[in-house]
Amino acid sequence: MKILIAYYSRRGHTEKLAEIIAKELKSRGHTVIIDRIRAVREPSKWVLLAKQIYTYPLIALALYNSSFRRWWLQHYPQVEADIQPLAYPDVSEFDLVCIGGPKWAEISYPVARYLKQVKGMQNKKVGAFATFGGPPLEVFELELINKPVSDRVQRLGGTVVATLGLSSAYHELYILPLMRIASRIVFRRPLESFTIDSEYGKEKIKGFCDRLAQ
Ligand SMILES: Cc1cc2nc3c(=O)[nH]c(=O)nc-3n(C[C@H](O)[C@H](O)[C@H](O)COP(=O)(O)O)c2cc1C
Repeated sequence: MKILIAYYSRRGHTEKLAEIIAKELKSRGHTVIIDRIRAVREPSKWVLLAKQIYTYPLIALALYNSSFRRWWLQHYPQVEADIQPLAYPDVSEFDLVCIGGPKWAEISYPVARYLKQVKGMQNKKVGAFATFGGPPLEVFELELINKPVSDRVQRLGGTVVATLGLSSAYHELYILPLMRIASRIVFRRPLESFTIDSEYGKEKIKGFCDRLAQ
């Protein structure tokens, strides 16, 4: 297959994951092309935070109440950021498209803009991948990014056939200690056991590539 990997990464963790996925897919005989999504501006973390912090009480409610969560994931105010011109603004020549980025409460702002701008997604199979600071909590980390990405891909006429979410064990907003505690309480394992380089990470990357190829 001819595969495009389009990703945004602010601090390099999702970039590392994109490169590992590319290597794995190449080793399986596919042709892989990478298109890095670059923001026009990289504002300070405080500016990024200011654009979403007022939604945090509602995200907390969404974690607690599944009916509200369904509504929230359809209607929350997704922030977008301007992106630089893409090498592949039209993806129709590819058999498969992988789209990746960090989790910023939901979709990172440059990836949200990518999903609005990209052309040629009709009938496309899509793999969605992400990194986040915390452990792979089913709802807070995985559902809050996978559902909005899948919905947007579906609106473009494509289908998400595989998802992948791994921890970077990095958070520039200083809340990593909380995430380490969450990992111990929920999984009884340290946060490091869910990173890209962990056994868990390697297994998940392999499974993601297996599902893409099916
Ligand atoms: C504005 C903002 C929001 C974030 N939201 C989350 C979050 O909801 N959950 C989480 O675990 N990490 C969150 N993070 C941390 C990033 O997802 C994490 O550090 C990611 O691996 C960074 O990827 P990168 O190095 O490719 O930019 C957030 C970071 C920023 C700047």
